[in-house]
Parts: sequence; structure tokens; C-alpha cells
Amino acid sequence: MEPRDIDGDLTEILIEEAEIRARLAEMSRQIEADYAGKDLLLVGVLKGAVMVMADLARELVHPVTMDWMAVSSYGSGTQSSGVVRILKDLDTDLHGRHVLIVEDIIDSGLTLSWLMANLNSRGPASLEICALLRKPDAARVEIDVKYLGFDIPNQFVVGYGLDYAEKYRNLRSVGVLAPHVYSTGE
Ligand code: XMP
Ligand code: MG
Repeated sequence: MEPRDIDGDLTEILIEEAEIRARLAEMSRQIEADYAGKDLLLVGVLKGAVMVMADLARELVHPVTMDWMAVSSYGSGTQSSGVVRILKDLDTDLHGRHVLIVEDIIDSGLTLSWLMANLNSRGPASLEICALLRKPDAARVEIDVKYLGFDIPNQFVVGYGLDYAEKYRNLRSVGVLAPHVYSTGE
């Protein structure tokens, strides 16, 4: 049904909604065990992590608080530059808090590497990463991700929060964007 909805903009569906939800449920059980008896602050990275955050947080029976940060890591084009700008900072003081960063995807790793250093300097009691997707073949820096959904091939993916030119975020599954979409700019 989904390929019809998006008129052939995807070459394939990589991960179906049900697989995502099942994996998030497994990750939630692991998070609950690891943070038993502790207050947990989930920090979502806007805008891509909105869907992961919504589904992960509701899967957790553990009480959590949520905050959001928006960063921009790309200059022009689709390559991460490593130069990160904060577009929206957290409202929460991280000092002494157990913080779990919730991300959509680790590509080069440059954004998360910068974010880890930035948030670590704020004195959290602990700081870990939860990411739905990772492209191992695109890694330029080593990222220690404690909770990972799926490793995927080095292709541009959209859906479940991930966009191309702000489109496709509301797709329920994760798919590979067809090259004709970016070559025509539409
Ligand atoms: P780095 O390279 O710093 O980049 O790890 C992470 C951020 O880049 C975006 N990104 C993608 N967005 N499909 C997308 O829609 C992709 O395949 C993709 N790869 C990287 C994303 O915002 C991520 O947080
Ligand atoms: Mg992102």
C-alpha cells in the first residue's frame, strides 16, 4: 500500500512499521532494566527523532521526562560538515541527570560526536545514545551507541521521521529514496 501512496518515490521499503515497533519494544525493555530506580531524561533531536521518541517513550513503562534540541549539521548539500549549530537548545539543566539522546540515524557520526561532547560538558550523571538507524559504511567517527535499532546500507533513506527536503517524514516505514527524486529536485 505504501509504495502506491508515494507514487514510486521509493525504490524499496527497508524496514516495515511493525519491525520498527517490535525493535523499539525490545530496546525499551533494555532501557528499563538499565535505568531501574533512576530518573531518565530523553533528549530528542529535532526533527528526525520525533517518531522514534513518540513510539519509544510510549513503549517505556519507566517514568521519563522529555526535552528537545534542534541542531543543524549540514552546510549545503547532503554531506555532514561536522560544523554543528544549535538552532534550539534544551530547556532542562542536565547537571546530575541521567540523559539518553534519542536520534533517528547515525550517518557519518559527526553530529552525535559533537552533541555528546556538548551535552557532556553540562555535567550529566550519565549520557548515552539511542538511535533507530545506523549506516556503518558511512562512519567517519566512532560513536558508542548503547541502544541501536538497525544497521542499514549506505543509502539515503526517508520515512518514520526522516525527510528529503522536509517530505516523507510521515511515512510509517523506512524506505530508500529513488534517485530520480533527488536528481530532479522534487
Ligand atoms: P551525521 O552524518 O552527522 O548525520 O551522522 C546525522 C544526521 O543527518 C541526517 N541524515 C539523514 N536524513 N536520510 C535522512 O532523511 C538519511 O539517509 C540520512 N542520513 C543522515 C539526519 O538528520 C541525521 O540526524
Ligand atoms: Mg537527525
